[in-house]
Amino acid sequence: MKNKYISVGLIGYGLVGKGVVRNLEENKKIALRKISKPIRIKSICDLRPIDKPKLYVKNFMDIVEDPEIDLIVELVGGYEPARTIIIESLKAGKNVVTANKAVLAKYWDQIFTAAQDYQKLVYYEASVGGVIPVVQGLSEGLACEDILEIKGILNGTTNFILSEMTKHGVTYEAALKSAQIAGFAEADPSFDVNGIDTANKLAILSSLAWGGWIKVEDISIEGIANLDIEDVLITQGFGYDVKLIGSAQKTKDGIDLSVQPCLVNKDHAFATVKNEYNAVMITGKDAGDVLFYGKGAGQRPASSAVVSDIINLSKFIVTNTAGIVPNVVYDKEKKIKVLPSGKSKAPYYLRFEVLDKPDVLSKILWILGKCKVSIANLEQLGVSSNGYTRIIILTHETYRENLEKALKQINATRSIIKSKTVKIKVELQSNNSLTLINSKLLKTLFTK
Ligand code: HSE
Repeated sequence: MKNKYISVGLIGYGLVGKGVVRNLEENKKIALRKISKPIRIKSICDLRPIDKPKLYVKNFMDIVEDPEIDLIVELVGGYEPARTIIIESLKAGKNVVTANKAVLAKYWDQIFTAAQDYQKLVYYEASVGGVIPVVQGLSEGLACEDILEIKGILNGTTNFILSEMTKHGVTYEAALKSAQIAGFAEADPSFDVNGIDTANKLAILSSLAWGGWIKVEDISIEGIANLDIEDVLITQGFGYDVKLIGSAQKTKDGIDLSVQPCLVNKDHAFATVKNEYNAVMITGKDAGDVLFYGKGAGQRPASSAVVSDIINLSKFIVTNTAGIVPNVVYDKEKKIKVLPSGKSKAPYYLRFEVLDKPDVLSKILWILGKCKVSIANLEQLGVSSNGYTRIIILTHETYRENLEKALKQINATRSIIKSKTVKIKVELQSNNSLTLINSKLLKTLFTK
């Protein structure tokens, strides 16, 4: 029986699990052409009984220990029992496919050490960027590249929320609700909106790119939960979109790692990435920029990526070579140097809410100058009835620690400042320049 099929044990029968069963059923012929052996789901484990009672098993260890099963698909999500399922499966001589970014980012060392020790494969394409073949692109397509930079919109839920807010002016809560209904969001959506999900994915891509283990704790993380709709609208007026970007950049002093809302102007490759779509730009020393784009969340894209992994891994099962050469070369001894977040350099958008009276602007500019923050552009946006005004500044590239020092001093000047200054990183593409042009204002001026 074992050799007639590739026998799969599925653990976790939620939205993606059901999608995997459907995809394998619908695309049977395509799969058969690729590996010349039929794939059958032999058992499915879930907490509750499922709509396929003949395949149902209650205890995941019954799947892990089943000698007929070649490959285990872990779709439980979260840390435990997912970690145990993966490690015990490898110990039991099974290959693993997982879509679980949280467990991979947290236990990268344990999982890939076990895979190497037991000579088995762990495939995880669906864990980053949904259907986008970015894991394969990075590990195989760019196998011998010196990776200089990875930047990406890596979370479909937040990109969907930001797109809805900008396009339709809907509230943050309403946009999140639609993302949940569409099946994009995590079981706990705070992982999406607080940037943790993006950080997990960035940690995976960075660990893969630089051959060690980059931990989520190495990444400076800021989500979109505190983003003010006012800044989304103001920056729109200046021709920018807000995107949650995960970024890993090789510098001479270490890898600069961050997840934060960023402004991209209309010419940026990420500006056209809307709704649940993701995009990842990988820059290699010889390759230059390589852009990956596609649906980053949702049942069909995620299950399509899981099934691709099942098929690609099965090629090695068919030839009895799975795990002889590891798919992730994890070097326990390799320590990757991480750049302290204060040493990170970027241009920033700043919004000050200040009293509109003499000497206020000069005070702000004096503090910025003293802290070595250079100004690229500046605009004042009218005066409100209570005598306060908004001043928008774009800085030149500045060290984060210098900017934070300046803003601390400015925010402490209570006599002129109404509310805490907002800062958002500006994400530049190499040929972009910093602009602050209020297009509506220009239109009114020139049509008079
Ligand atoms: N919650 C994730 C997202 C699902 O929104 O991108 C895919 O990892």
